Amino acid sequence: MAQTMSLLLILLSLSLTVSNGAHNVIDFGAKPDGVSDNKKAFLDAWAKVCSSTQPASIYVPPGRFLVSQADFMGPCKQNSVEIYIDGTIVAPSGYTSTTKWILFQYVDGFSIFGGTLDGQGHSMWNCKTSGSNCLEASTSLTIAQSKDVKIQGLTSVNSEGFHMSIYQSSGVTVQNIQISAPSNSPNTDGIHVQLSDHVIIQGSNIKTGDDCISLGAGSRNVLITDIYCGPGHGISIGSLGSIAHEQGVQNVTVSSVVFHDTTNGVRIKTWGKHYQGYVQFIMFQNIVMYNVSNPIIIDQRYCPHNNNCPNQNSGVKISNVIYSNIRGYSDTEVAMKFDCSPSNPCQGISLQDIKLTYQNQQAKSFCNNASGFNSGTITPPSCLGS
Ligand SMILES: *[C@@H]1O[C@H](CO)[C@@H](O)[C@H](O)[C@H]1NC(C)=O
Ligand SMILES: *[C@@H]1O[C@H](CO)[C@@H](O)[C@H](O)[C@H]1NC(C)=O
Ligand SMILES: *[C@@H]1O[C@H](CO)[C@@H](O)[C@H](O)[C@H]1NC(C)=O
Repeated sequence: MAQTMSLLLILLSLSLTVSNGAHNVIDFGAKPDGVSDNKKAFLDAWAKVCSSTQPASIYVPPGRFLVSQADFMGPCKQNSVEIYIDGTIVAPSGYTSTTKWILFQYVDGFSIFGGTLDGQGHSMWNCKTSGSNCLEASTSLTIAQSKDVKIQGLTSVNSEGFHMSIYQSSGVTVQNIQISAPSNSPNTDGIHVQLSDHVIIQGSNIKTGDDCISLGAGSRNVLITDIYCGPGHGISIGSLGSIAHEQGVQNVTVSSVVFHDTTNGVRIKTWGKHYQGYVQFIMFQNIVMYNVSNPIIIDQRYCPHNNNCPNQNSGVKISNVIYSNIRGYSDTEVAMKFDCSPSNPCQGISLQDIKLTYQNQQAKSFCNNASGFNSGTITPPSCLGS
């Protein structure tokens, strides 16, 4: 009898997974009322798919699902967990005391399709802009220590801090993402990558109050392509060199990007501190700039409020950076700026077919400690030494 019963249960659970496909969070008790905390239901659904020995998926139907801080932990028993989201996942309003809202950690092989994350960041932004002592803002979606991850068609709005962070992960593809937060929302970076390898960010639309995409230390083999950025602070490598023993950044391609009303276009930024590091084999190509304050910029003197770094030279070596086919207009006179480290001059900077104007006139370029090559037509005229 007991045996028949357990066989029946096994058959029943098999048929549930097979016939319904995905595990609906509603079946785990989730309520799309925008008020009840659905953390437990989501984590229970996760536990179910993560412990399944066959590919398994979660379905989040339309509606507003409030979910407080939640860690979706691996490792899972197989490497094909999929999450299909039609609804909106909402953070608790009022800022929280965690640095990560939704975290996926130690997961090898998972995908998220669709969905909206609403970070409800307003009270955090108000706190920060009022100059009070605020708790640390949380990142809406963090992928950490994971492998073989795909995020497709996700929308992220109004994060408290970063919208998305990819940390110590490998093989992460982010496609067709929409990110939006007001241009004056502090530190709401779009996508931040750090200590990660083989990352592709493709076909995304990012409007936010800080960097659209930022690549921190240890970003390697990164392809960023078909991006619209603006408003925002542009696409940035850095800031690097604020601490000792940082990993370098290498093999990054940024291609087919439109910047609109951004404070920077393509930027490489290091602290004016002596800590060693490097940025090498970087390619910026096929880029259009509409009203960008610093379309092309390398700044190795970053030292906000002159704290702990005045008069130090950056120890980060920048080399082999190609800028190719970059056009449009600058919002400031200096459209091209290479302000490199006097002790580690930039080397192998290559300019090919650049046309940047300022108020329909010729813009200017500025170089300090930078050398390289020029080819094709370059306006403003290049100031690189050879
Ligand atoms: C550079 O990065 C791209 C994108 O991840 C990758 O396809 C390519 O193999 C890398 N090149 C080298 C030399 O590692
Ligand atoms: C250019 O962009 C800045 C923001 O970086 C904005 O304040 C300004 O209005 C824009 N100018 C034009 C002409 O659109
Ligand atoms: C760096 O630039 C400064 C100012 O242009 C110049 O005086 C100095 O010689 C340069 N240093 C090197 C190592 O090229």
